[in-house]
Amino acid sequence: MKNMNKPLLEILKGYESQKTPIWLMRQAGRYLPEYKKTRSLAGSFLDLCYDPKLAAEVTLQPLKRFDLDGAILFADILLIPNSMGLKLKFEEGLGPLLETVKNLNDVEKLDATDQIHEVLNPIYETVSLVKSKLNKGITFIGFAGAPWTVATYMIEGKGSKDHQKTKVFMSTMPDSFDLLISKIVDATVEYLVKQIEAGVEVVKLFDSWAGSLPGTLVKKYSLEPMKEITRRIKEKHPQIPVIVFPRGVGPHYEYFSMIRDFDCIALDSNLPLLWAKEKVQINNTVQGNLDPSYLISGGSSLIEQVIKIKETFSGGGHIFNLGHGITPNADIKNVELLINTLKS
Ligand code: CP3
Repeated sequence: MKNMNKPLLEILKGYESQKTPIWLMRQAGRYLPEYKKTRSLAGSFLDLCYDPKLAAEVTLQPLKRFDLDGAILFADILLIPNSMGLKLKFEEGLGPLLETVKNLNDVEKLDATDQIHEVLNPIYETVSLVKSKLNKGITFIGFAGAPWTVATYMIEGKGSKDHQKTKVFMSTMPDSFDLLISKIVDATVEYLVKQIEAGVEVVKLFDSWAGSLPGTLVKKYSLEPMKEITRRIKEKHPQIPVIVFPRGVGPHYEYFSMIRDFDCIALDSNLPLLWAKEKVQINNTVQGNLDPSYLISGGSSLIEQVIKIKETFSGGGHIFNLGHGITPNADIKNVELLINTLKS
């Protein structure tokens, strides 16, 4: 096999492995002092995303410190709406602020053609730079937000707990909402194909807010759009594995695991381990699902959890990860403890 000695990629391609590979969501971020330094050099978070040299540096920072098997491109899921024509800024302490879409006219104005690359070109440059510097054994992961999650930011304009505006938009203007989803699908396919052509070896779709969809609509607005993106990517690049993260969908996870085109299902921390083994891992490779708060607390509870997760999933395909991103107050020593526990 051409990609020998890439444990993470091999598992995604269905090869058996003695070792559980690991990478961590938000492995580059504010818990690392070197990240904070580079970010202040860049000016703002967005300037950092659009600066290929600095973004490549930040992508590689966690690999210099930790024995990880994957590198994830440093960027953000909100760069897609930005490239489609919506103004974006990140306010210190407030998170993202995105220009909103309010009606059909706003949706129609969004660009989902290859024009989006004018904004996104620096990201592909980051990919090439990282690719040229990455150690051979490390798998390079690209990503995008899933359409539902991206749509919530486009309608709410910022983070939200209940996504009420989005759901009201969806119910009162269903045709406009469907057009919005299909435009995000188109733009995301454009974006991920370019990431692949620049050098990423795996792509991940983050549906971080899938759990706020009514159960009756999880298939329509989380599963189906991710399936469509995956199908269109694989038409062009059949060898590229796709990881999906329908965070918070509970028992619906089982349906995601049965989709043949998905190569790995990222589990959130809330899922019962045995249920996930019996209903999800039985059909597909899984990734996850340590609660990120163990990286704040550390100690024996961290060790116990890591062993429990590793042992539960030892009979099938498993990539170790968190159930959500690392938080800024995570302790670097606990990240080391996690990796050492897993690898010992
Ligand atoms: O995982 C990685 O290391 C790769 C980079 C990455 C970032 N964001 C960098 C980032 C990835 C994969 C994302 C995905 C992302 N962005 C998601 C989906 C995953 C998830 O966490 O649920 C979402 C919902 C976003 C949108 C977003 N970006 C929010 C809500 C915020 C503010 C929250 C926060 O932590 O400040 C961001 C900012 C952001 N994206 C940061 C980083 C490192 C922090 C920015 C900073 O330096 O201040």
